[in-house]
Amino acid sequence: MQLLPVFLDMQGRSCLVVGGGGTAARKVGNLVRAGAAVRVVSPEICDALDRRAKSGDLEHLARPFEPGDVAGNALIIAATDDRAVNREVARLANEHQIPVNVVDDPDACTFILPSIVDRAPVTVAVSTGRASPVLARLLRTKLESLIPAGYGRLAELSGKYRDRVKARFTDQRDRRRFWDRVLEGAVAERIFAGQFEEAEAIIEQELAPDALEHDMGEVYLVGAGPGDPDLLTFRALRLIQQADVVVYDRLVADAILQMARRDAKRIYVGKQRNHHAMRQEEINRLLADLAKDGHRVLRLKGGDPFIFGRGGEEIDTLAAEGVPFQVIPGITAASGCAAYAGIPLTHRDYAQSVVFVTGHLKDGSINLNWPALAQPNQTVVFYMGLVGLPIIVEQLMAHGVSADMPIALVQQGTTHLQRVYTGTLSTINELVSADPPQPPTLVIVGAVVELRDKLNWFRPPDEPVLGATTPIVPTA
Ligand SMILES: C[S@@+](CC[C@H](N)C(=O)[O-])C[C@H]1O[C@@H](n2cnc3c(N)ncnc32)[C@H](O)[C@@H]1O
Repeated sequence: MQLLPVFLDMQGRSCLVVGGGGTAARKVGNLVRAGAAVRVVSPEICDALDRRAKSGDLEHLARPFEPGDVAGNALIIAATDDRAVNREVARLANEHQIPVNVVDDPDACTFILPSIVDRAPVTVAVSTGRASPVLARLLRTKLESLIPAGYGRLAELSGKYRDRVKARFTDQRDRRRFWDRVLEGAVAERIFAGQFEEAEAIIEQELAPDALEHDMGEVYLVGAGPGDPDLLTFRALRLIQQADVVVYDRLVADAILQMARRDAKRIYVGKQRNHHAMRQEEINRLLADLAKDGHRVLRLKGGDPFIFGRGGEEIDTLAAEGVPFQVIPGITAASGCAAYAGIPLTHRDYAQSVVFVTGHLKDGSINLNWPALAQPNQTVVFYMGLVGLPIIVEQLMAHGVSADMPIALVQQGTTHLQRVYTGTLSTINELVSADPPQPPTLVIVGAVVELRDKLNWFRPPDEPVLGATTPIVPTA
């Protein structure tokens, strides 16, 4: 982190602004809104500042800057169009150890004014660490559209009830659950709809002594997708950020885990080939027990929980024991890898169907309906097919698939480590032996693979970057 984000209490504190043009006026706007006592030093000021001076928002000293102006301020902004004057202001500010912002001169700044989304008292500040103010503004625009205007009212309402809620729920967990219900449920919806009285009425009901919640938690079975965190659903993201305990396995990208609350307990339950940190029955038991203890449990699984993810077994136990749960689908590896490899699985000129099968080896063989998989005009996607690749190739050819049939292997699809191997059934084993791919790897067999030559769009960067191309990194 290049710059430390902080929110300063500026109520009544002195701020010096040197310069009187439009840029100074924009900076002054936020200072005044934060309650600062603003003094503008400039021989002349623009109309906007003049209006503010006349309405008493700021004090205007109509003269050039003097070194004596610096001392005693909490913040200083240098916004003249004379770089030398701005630099001199910055030098003196540094001498007095006062934070200074210099317009259009990032190197001379000791703080920056971020782009903000203002839902007072809620404020979201965006910084790109001096790299790109334009990008910060773009991000701000996106956030503006995501954060309903009613958030300010919601925060005010929370502030109003804070002490009563604290007195009503002495256990911190009960309190958090209460606030989750209020801030994400019917109360928030009423506020966003402008129905403030109704919102308060619901809170009052919830605070009534006979409205005690029973102490059962819940399990969220969430598909984390194939790796790229941008592929999460909104709902998955919301629940990830809500959970008290996160139970995750190997295929979950580190960047997605980091989205969980910092104080959420994280439990790694493994699931690597032939190396399970915890047996499936133990995982089922763990989920049920944690929820019965009152926790909101996030069971985070790679891809989609219901596609070769054993999600069904896990919620089976929960259903049998009366533990509430919800299932949030994720993008399965076949969809994610195919999209990021430029292979449309059912392009109608090449395939009328797509089949997802497991290529998992059991006792050295793969028990599949090979004649069905060898049908023409069909794409076959093998999950867990890397180790058994020679058997897959051999069986497909033995059941009539041409040795020239295209095949692709997608290693760590959708991440910055994505690599795609393409060949034919007759060449792929050799390619793989020469340069073995890393798991997880998905195998796609079918004529659609040819389309990759034309449709490949995703270029993983050479350097790891956090975000859209975050790799799958086992954290345990
Ligand atoms: C146990 S299955 C889990 C599948 C997961 N539930 C899903 O819907 O994608 C694991 C297999 O999925 C495939 N896989 C999962 N994520 C992948 C990725 N990012 N790239 C390539 N293959 C992946 C690999 O074939 C891996 O062996």
